[in-house]
Amino acid sequence: MTIRLQDPFGRAIEYVRLSVTDRCDLRCVYCLPKGHKDFVEPETWLNFDEVERVISAFGELGVSRIRITGGEPLVRHNLSDLINRMSSLEGITDLSLSTNAVRLGKLAPALKAAGIQRINVSLDTLKPDRFKAITGGKLEKVLDGLKAAKEVGFSPIKINMVVMKDVNEDEIEDMVEFCIEEDHTLRFIETMPIGNTGNINHFYSLDKAKQRLEQRYKLLPGFDSGGGPARYSQIAGTDLRIGFITPMSQHFCETCNRVRLTADGMLYLCLGQNDMVDLRTPLRNGISDKQLQQLIIDAIAQKPERHEFNTQPGHVVRFMSQTGG
Ligand SMILES: C[S@@+](CC[C@H](N)C(=O)[O-])C[C@H]1O[C@@H](n2cnc3c(N)ncnc32)[C@H](O)[C@@H]1O
Ligand code: SF4
Repeated sequence: MTIRLQDPFGRAIEYVRLSVTDRCDLRCVYCLPKGHKDFVEPETWLNFDEVERVISAFGELGVSRIRITGGEPLVRHNLSDLINRMSSLEGITDLSLSTNAVRLGKLAPALKAAGIQRINVSLDTLKPDRFKAITGGKLEKVLDGLKAAKEVGFSPIKINMVVMKDVNEDEIEDMVEFCIEEDHTLRFIETMPIGNTGNINHFYSLDKAKQRLEQRYKLLPGFDSGGGPARYSQIAGTDLRIGFITPMSQHFCETCNRVRLTADGMLYLCLGQNDMVDLRTPLRNGISDKQLQQLIIDAIAQKPERHEFNTQPGHVVRFMSQTGG
C-alpha cells in the first residue's frame, strides 16, 4: 500500500520541484546578483542515477508531480535522458518544466519526446532593451523558444511575469494582449526577498495590478488553480487565464503541497525558510531504498508552517536559483 506524505499541519505533499542545476545563462536582477559565479561544484550534483532513486522514492510515497527547474534546467547536459528515465517511474504522472526558454528553440522537440507535458516560461518584458537590462540576455531567443514550444504542441504555455515597480509594471496590459494573441496562460508574480541580489524596493503588489486590469477588462473570478499557488481569473470574451501569485500580499502557505530538491541533493521544505535535509550524503553512503523513504517521511515531518518573508525579509540568504524556484 502506498504511504501518503503528510506534514504536521495536515497538508498532503504530492509535488516535488526538482532543481537540476543552480547555474543559469541569464542573470535576472531579482534572482541572481550581476556577474554571480559562486555556484555549487558539479561533482556535488546528484547524478541521474541518484536523481532517479530519489524521485522513485517520492513516487512510492504518493508524489505524482515533478517540476524540473533550476537555475536554468536546460543548461544541464542530456536533460532529456533524465526526463525519459523519470517518465517511466511508478506513480509519476505529471512532468513539467520551468525555463527561461533561451535554449528552448533547439530543445523543445527532445523535451516533448522525453515526456515533458507542460512548460512555464519566464518573461518579464516584451521590450528587447528592457529584457537585456533585467536578464542580461536576448529577448529574441526567448520568443524563438516560445515559438518552437508551440510548434511541438505544448499547450497552453504558462508565461511567468515578475512584476516590478518602476521596472516593468507599465507592461501588464501589453503582456495580457500578447498572451491573448499567442494563446498562452499568464501569471503575474510578486518579488520575494530571497538572497541578497541587490535588487531592492521594486515590490509591486498584485492587488494594484488586478485593479488596473479591472478598469480595462471584465475579469471573471474563480478559475480552478489546479493545486498551485496562483489565484486565477479569466478575461471575459477571451480564453486568457490570468494567475496572480501573491506570496507577499496574500500568502498561500496553508495549501502548500510541495518540497524542493536542489541540484546537490538537499531537500528544502519551504522556499521561504532554511529547514532542509541532506539526501546526498546518505545516498552516497549506500542508504537502502526503504531507509531513503523513511528519511523523506522524517523530513516532511519538519516542514515549517509558513514563510516569513514579510516579518524576516533577510532570513533566506540562498538565491532563488539555488533552491529551484
Ligand atoms: C528561479 S527560476 C528557475 C527556472 C527558470 N530559470 C526560469 O526562469 O523560469 C523560477 C521562477 O522563479 C522566479 N523568481 C526568481 N527569483 C524571484 C524572486 N526573488 N521573487 C519572485 N520570483 C522569483 C522566476 O521569475 C521564475 O519564474
Ligand atoms: S529567474 Fe530563472 S532565468 Fe532568471 S536568473 Fe533566475 S534561474 Fe536564471
